[in-house]
Amino acid sequence: MISRRLLVTGAAGFIGANFAHFWIASNPDDRIVILDALTYAGNFTSIASLAKREHVRFVKGDIRDFELVRDLLQTEALNTIVHFAAESHVDRSILGPGEFVATNIVGTQVLLDAARAAWLEKGLPHRFHHISTDEVYGSLGPTDAAFTEVHPYDPRSPYAASKAASDHLVRAYGHTYGLDYSISNCSNNYGPYQFPEKLIPLCIVNILEGRPLPIYGDGLNVRDWLHVEDHCAAVKVIIESSQPGRTWNIGGRSERNNLALVRELCHAVDEAFGRDNMLKNRFPNCPAAQGNSSEELITFVKDRPGHDRRYAIDATRLEQELGFEPRYDLSRGLRETVGWYLANENWWRAVLSGQYKEWVQRQYG
Ligand code: NAD
Ligand code: DAU
Repeated sequence: MISRRLLVTGAAGFIGANFAHFWIASNPDDRIVILDALTYAGNFTSIASLAKREHVRFVKGDIRDFELVRDLLQTEALNTIVHFAAESHVDRSILGPGEFVATNIVGTQVLLDAARAAWLEKGLPHRFHHISTDEVYGSLGPTDAAFTEVHPYDPRSPYAASKAASDHLVRAYGHTYGLDYSISNCSNNYGPYQFPEKLIPLCIVNILEGRPLPIYGDGLNVRDWLHVEDHCAAVKVIIESSQPGRTWNIGGRSERNNLALVRELCHAVDEAFGRDNMLKNRFPNCPAAQGNSSEELITFVKDRPGHDRRYAIDATRLEQELGFEPRYDLSRGLRETVGWYLANENWWRAVLSGQYKEWVQRQYG
């Protein structure tokens, strides 16, 4: 096994930041270079404590900058890319697909070319791990079997299509140029450092502020939720153990419809207010501060165009071949996540910038 020197793209974002923290906690002496353009979804504060460490370097830059990436790989003698950087929000892809093509497709292709130049042309051992999504497989009916790794691709949003294209590019570079790669397709993540435009952090912040919880359509769309720490642990196992050229599904076996999930979040917040009397003073607009149920904030709104009905991941391959199973139970994970947002109010207040407010205005009116 090669000793890892990593380039982690997009590690100022939600999953990448958790991954960098997770990797360093178990391999504190590994060299890690973080490359992130710090778009609206990238928050330096999420990784500021890591960037101070001797073995970690943060570079603000774009994955589409070929020279920058190639030079980083060469001068830092990096041998592993873990590629998280992406435009990741489906609703934004519906409003403006262009950025998704530019970052997710062109960005991945430039990164692959930099890997070719730095590694393949010099015959160096390497691994390119590409982070992908279950959305490339399309949408399931209520009784359909969960997605396996051989499920045909059927992306339905501009986001999903851009991720599918990037998966194809990674495989094509493996087949054509001999790139040593692995790919993981993961279900919906939740946990610390998630930008509050995705369902779970959006709802936690809105409950605390006493704002409506927007449920698209009938609220019965189903997602398979995975705690981000379980995702990071799975990616680490794959990087360390997967044969080249293989794809791995990662899921939580925790399907919930959106309405049930949001209700569970409301209860988690209400319980937290029941335990800690000080929360009333910190969040006076939260229904729980007046002794009411936060469920009163649930508001049905217009559906997302092309809204996929159900995703579910069959992670049997990962379980049987690499012995990986998620550790978090969803109810525990949601309560801990509510706890994290309560304890890290400064973090989410800071990321709710002017640009974010403009987006909320456009999306929700
Ligand atoms: P995120 O939006 O929170 O973070 C994305 C990060 O990428 C940000 O820090 C951003 O600054 C950076 N970035 C964007 N464009 C860049 C560019 N051109 N150059 C360099 N950096 C750039 O996303 P996330 O939720 O952490 O998702 C990370 C990856 O995981 C994505 O590839 C996504 O498709 C995939 N994924 C996400 C989920 C989920 O539930 N969030 C599930 C499965 C797969
Ligand atoms: O399945 C993996 C994917 O999960 C990742 O690839 C994406 O990067 C990630 O954003 C996520 O996509 P979703 O569209 O499933 O996540 P989101 O949090 O946006 O929405 C979850 C569900 O909640 C979905 O059915 C839409 C619904 N929803 C979302 C928002 C933001 C609402 O009902 N109201 C909302 O305000």
